[in-house]
Amino acid sequence: MSRIPVSEDLLALLQSLPDVDVDLYLDAMTRPLPETFRVNTLKLPEEVIVSFLRERGWEVERISWARHAYRANRAEREELGATVPHLFGLIYIQGPISMVPVEALDPRPGERVLDLCAAPGSKSTQIAQLMENSGVLVANDASTERIRPLISNLQRWGVMNCVVTLKDGRYFGKRMRESFDRVLCDVPCSSLGIVMKDWAAAKNYSHGITERVRVLQLSLLLSAYDATSPGGRVVYSTCTIHPLENEWVVSELLSRRSGARVLEFRPEGLKVRRPLEEWSGIRFDPEVAKCFKCYPYDNGGEGFFVALIEKGETR
Ligand SMILES: C[S@@+](CC[C@H](N)C(=O)[O-])C[C@H]1O[C@@H](n2cnc3c(N)ncnc32)[C@H](O)[C@@H]1O
Repeated sequence: MSRIPVSEDLLALLQSLPDVDVDLYLDAMTRPLPETFRVNTLKLPEEVIVSFLRERGWEVERISWARHAYRANRAEREELGATVPHLFGLIYIQGPISMVPVEALDPRPGERVLDLCAAPGSKSTQIAQLMENSGVLVANDASTERIRPLISNLQRWGVMNCVVTLKDGRYFGKRMRESFDRVLCDVPCSSLGIVMKDWAAAKNYSHGITERVRVLQLSLLLSAYDATSPGGRVVYSTCTIHPLENEWVVSELLSRRSGARVLEFRPEGLKVRRPLEEWSGIRFDPEVAKCFKCYPYDNGGEGFFVALIEKGETR
């Protein structure tokens, strides 16, 4: 298949990253993602849903790095999104690597959990399921348009323990300090890890996008951290490959919050790439090496960056 056009700034970025294979990255942009989904144990036992799909001709196999997650091989003439289980909220179609941040967060039943940038709700539904519909989940987003699909996805999934809020995520660190056991901070980003889903991200990418968004990303991560109780955990995630939106943001948090500690997180069955120690003359905190990073051509899925952070007693 021929390659799709990419902006000059993206090409320059790819060539500046010492661990990127530019050809593999450009090839990955034209390869569709595998069809992967989670089954909804809030509604029915896992084996009932999986048997139903298999009886209808779907070949499905378990994914090792996320609970209740499967890969589907397409049955003739039927889209997974048009199946009865999807219509009734028994399955949620979600990219394979996009399931990793919530596995790192590992929310437990009965906890207080905040999803700071939640729309359209892939990860909120995953969190509510692991909480077994108990405790409290606050699913927040700042976008009026995106809050509707968030609410409808939570309803379709049968979530009962969730409050939806429409706020700038920077509110929580100031007004709800130390209120949550776990906070997911899945920030807006340049999306350079999901170019196969969004070719425009590659065509329109400019360095200015990263310069603008990394300031917001850092404020959101600081807010997430401040909203977390001492001893609690924060997960910071992006679907981009840019070191200023990944390594730099986590490094800045570590320099501004002395109690923050990065915990090593290695999802089972996925190729993990070592984060950069420095880029473009900027040295990152060595703790950043413990984060999970993969490129779009590493695991046949999206490119992602995930940092699991523990909050100590001191700020
Ligand atoms: C990567 S998407 C989140 C995807 C979502 N976690 C999921 O898995 O379905 C980033 C989200 O951040 C939201 N956002 C942008 N600026 C924000 C802000 N200042 N505060 C909170 N959310 C914000 C966007 O509206 C967008 O829905």
